[in-house]
Amino acid sequence: MIMKLPTAAWITIAISCLRFAADAFTSQLRLHQCSVPTTHNQLAGKKRKGSFLDEFSDDGPTTKSTPTTKANLRSSQDNVHTDMIEWLKQHPLTYINPKFKILPSELGGYGGFCAQTPENMLMQQNEMIMCIPRELCITFEDALNDPKCGGAFRLIQEYQLPDWRLLLVAGWAAKEYLMANLLEDKKSEIKHWPYLKSIPWKRGELDQEHVLFWTEDEVETSLGGSLAYDDAQLVRSRVQNATKLLDDRAIGPLFREIGLEPAQYTDGLKEAVAAAFASALSRSFSEEVEVEMLDGSVEIEKETLMIPLLDILQHSNEPNTLVETYDDYIILKAKRTILPGEEIYHRYQEEDDDVIPPYKFFTRYGFVPNVKTPVVELLKEKSPLFFDESSYSQFYGS
Ligand SMILES: *[C@@H]1O[C@H](CO)[C@@H](O)[C@H](O)[C@H]1NC(C)=O
Repeated sequence: MIMKLPTAAWITIAISCLRFAADAFTSQLRLHQCSVPTTHNQLAGKKRKGSFLDEFSDDGPTTKSTPTTKANLRSSQDNVHTDMIEWLKQHPLTYINPKFKILPSELGGYGGFCAQTPENMLMQQNEMIMCIPRELCITFEDALNDPKCGGAFRLIQEYQLPDWRLLLVAGWAAKEYLMANLLEDKKSEIKHWPYLKSIPWKRGELDQEHVLFWTEDEVETSLGGSLAYDDAQLVRSRVQNATKLLDDRAIGPLFREIGLEPAQYTDGLKEAVAAAFASALSRSFSEEVEVEMLDGSVEIEKETLMIPLLDILQHSNEPNTLVETYDDYIILKAKRTILPGEEIYHRYQEEDDDVIPPYKFFTRYGFVPNVKTPVVELLKEKSPLFFDESSYSQFYGS
């Protein structure tokens, strides 16, 4: 079942550590190629984003929740954002422009804005909007260097098991989250806790919906016969396999070593891994990194990472910002003047495949952009978005 790869993967681990060590000596920071986040926002913004969003919105901004729940969600969201920002600011490399504000996005959910203040201060072209230290991001290094689970994550990378990039980032995030929750006294030792708790971990939390949280019955009843069914089952199967692997090889052994019985963590582990995958699918970035191999050749490796605060921004194909990633930090700059009250968007690199149909948006990212009706209701009323491919193919022009 597992194909053993040559030792190149293992060498990569060593090299990527070297990469960080070597860069400590250079004052001129090397620019990584920044690319391809796997977030829903990016997918909204593929080549035909404009028409995609326009075709589906009746009139301006939409949100996915009802007014009452929205108010509750907003206040809890505000708190987790405040805590995360305070945590980020403790790091000497962090910069957050005082004009930057998190507010409900024009596209639904949350987004970043240039604040509307009495002074009416705008953001100038090239003005820095934020600088996020890489040390506070969730990266491969976190998983690979984990004192307890690092060995398992290194094997996952070495054998390039299915979904290994997501496994590293989401698996490690799930493990940290579970540690904080199961062992209350460990919470203060969980470095990324203020970031982790700003991510939805349970169905419905922070407006979260995802087929990864559904029961098998719900999938059969709601999605059976729809265009989304096969893709939903594929996503679920991939995450089930990942969960089993983490339970058998990484997180499970750690908890047993700590003295927990499987009954104490099994359900929590399933839920946490599903949530971590849902988050990693919808908000992680992937970065192309030049890696120097031992023989002196250079290879491009793709690394997945989760970047606090920056991952709140929505995507636009015509963004008003630029992202630059460096070895020690990631910078977001204004690409042009941004007016007070204007939403801040950034652009992720386009993927190769042109088009993502609405149902796939849902199976991968948990929602259909700019559609107000909850997906469960769309399914109940047999919406063409989920049942008739010809109903939306025209929107994509092919
Ligand atoms: C999950 O694992 C099973 C058993 O090894 C395998 O048959 C199945 O194809 C895997 N699912 C995916 C999506 O890889």
